[in-house]
Amino acid sequence: MANARLTAIGMAVPQKQITNAYFESFLETTDEWIVSRTGIKTRYHTESDEFTSDLCVKAIQNLQATYPEVNLNGVDMILVSTVTPDQPMPSVACRLQYKLSLPQAGALDVYAACAGFSYAIVLAKGLISAGTHRKILVFGAETLSKITDFTDRTSCMLFGDAAGVVLVEADETGNVGECITGASGEGGPDLYLSGFTTEIDGQPLKMNHTIVQNGRKVFKWAVTKVAEQMPILAAKNGLTMDEIDWFVPHSANLRIIEAICNETGFPLDKTLESIVDFGNTSSASIPLALYQGVVKGKVKKGDKIMIIGFGGGLAYAGTVITWG
Ligand SMILES: CC(C)(COP(=O)(O)OP(=O)(O)OC[C@H]1O[C@@H](n2cnc3c(N)ncnc32)[C@H](O)[C@@H]1OP(=O)(O)O)[C@@H](O)C(=O)NCCC(=O)NCCS
Repeated sequence: MANARLTAIGMAVPQKQITNAYFESFLETTDEWIVSRTGIKTRYHTESDEFTSDLCVKAIQNLQATYPEVNLNGVDMILVSTVTPDQPMPSVACRLQYKLSLPQAGALDVYAACAGFSYAIVLAKGLISAGTHRKILVFGAETLSKITDFTDRTSCMLFGDAAGVVLVEADETGNVGECITGASGEGGPDLYLSGFTTEIDGQPLKMNHTIVQNGRKVFKWAVTKVAEQMPILAAKNGLTMDEIDWFVPHSANLRIIEAICNETGFPLDKTLESIVDFGNTSSASIPLALYQGVVKGKVKKGDKIMIIGFGGGLAYAGTVITWG
């Protein structure tokens, strides 16, 4: 049976950097409040004519520059995790199949918000293990600034735009381990983006087509759920948490990461984050954090890396990757 090996990684952010001072200019907030409550110092926003597929193309260019030996010929599937596609149809994955000239590739968008990149890795592993596909591009990419409510001071400073991408290939041994997936669907009303229906479970939705969240409820759910799942995921991979070299949770808020570490006793200095420089980039946040860890030389060959994505749904997924 073939196994899944993550062989290359890349990322991209738009040009326009947004500091906390930007929010001070039109909201009752301060840099001090934003940094102390979220850890975020900067994030990047796309221009009005710049979309998720554009960031994905830049992320691929970055992957190819970082790994010049990588050849995209033979990519047979493109998975794109996003809640901010250029448009609902065609999918971002189909746009990329065209833009990247990958004639043999199937194309599918995955819709699982901040858990989406981890879910897409689970899918890529499944397709490779099933023997139906051998070379898969997995993107986590968002333009959250396009669905941000800039009148909501409790959420608008959180979100950023970015794309991350990894190449997952079939080989004998693989390096993508056992996975977890799950959801707490009853938490749907706590984090949503309105669409067609005007209610969830009898609760009226704010129909403003921007992200609406109950920050405190999401915060508590994230800390409790991720802290509960970490040892379960480690055990599924035959490991204890002491044997995990790097923990890469979704970068929703630095305080969530700190709270998870407090709860589990996992050392904060063995976590990788992308929240401080890039904000909450939803499904892009894990590949961004991992890429930074790799290019800064923190992540070494053979390191056991636990990733766990969590967010809107509410949903979560994770796996353990042995680097190299
Ligand atoms: C959004 C979040 C940063 C808010 O932090 P918090 O510590 O929970 O803050 P609260 O909402 O309790 O607000 C505390 C106070 O700060 C105020 N406040 C809120 N936003 C503010 C801002 N941008 N600037 C200044 N003050 C602000 C509130 O009005 C409140 O004031 P009050 O005590 O007088 O009522 C935090 O709840 C969070 O990050 N939650 C998770 C959100 C998330 O990650 N979502 C995506 C999941 S994938």
